[in-house]
Amino acid sequence: MTAWIFYTAARRDKRRAARYTPRMPANPPDGVTVIDHPLVQVKLTQLRDVQTGSREFRARLNELSTLMVFEATRDLATQPALIQTPLAPFEGRELARPVVVAPILRAGLGLVEGMLRLLPHVSVAHIGMFRNEQTHRPESYYFKAPAHLATADVILVDPMLATGGSATGAVTQLKSAGAKSVRFVCIVSCAEGLAQLRGAHPDVRIFTAAIDPELNDRAYIVPGLGDAGDRYFGTV
Ligand code: PRP
Ligand code: URA
Repeated sequence: MTAWIFYTAARRDKRRAARYTPRMPANPPDGVTVIDHPLVQVKLTQLRDVQTGSREFRARLNELSTLMVFEATRDLATQPALIQTPLAPFEGRELARPVVVAPILRAGLGLVEGMLRLLPHVSVAHIGMFRNEQTHRPESYYFKAPAHLATADVILVDPMLATGGSATGAVTQLKSAGAKSVRFVCIVSCAEGLAQLRGAHPDVRIFTAAIDPELNDRAYIVPGLGDAGDRYFGTV
């Protein structure tokens, strides 16, 4: 009996020692913004939870994307907009350039609805890409973007930045199609993916809710949240 108590206590201590806790980097890499708003961190914790089913996962990802886009669009240029209130003429502001939201399929679709809530008039580009399970390299299967990419601010979105291959490939495709201003919004990232994307496209600012400590041998982010696409679409 005593041995059993020692055994379970040792297992509990081991589990506790292995527990990951969120740590906001004191100095995130250049061009990377970690959005540490309390609501973002609370909703991200719910997303990470293995007990969270598809329905709640979708709801939380939607809410998170609205919060993330609020921060990620903070520096968008505006220009004067002349309007008439019921009482007087008024010079307010409107966005100076069109915005294009560009999800990387599939999981990036989970961030679109929440962003369109704040940006209802924008166009949506679609970038089809999946990661080869053996090589971990992205394979492209679809690309469709509006013709005005060159004059737009493009917000590329994907919940996960792991090796960085998918986001890097997506930015390359967007630039080949004319995009000149691209920013990337993800939920969970890691040092390897950030370095890959920033190295290939230093002009692309990255907004993330977390920089997790590592990738496992299947190139999944740990602690991460698992396979974002499978959890969002219920294909686990
Ligand atoms: C996931 C994720 C990213 C990519 C990240 O997509 O949504 O697109 O992997 O990994 P990387 O940074 O190493 O490229 P996945 O290939 O699983 O496709 P899915 O969204 O269709 O499930
Ligand atoms: N894609 C995911 O969905 N999750 C990861 O951790 C890595 C790639």
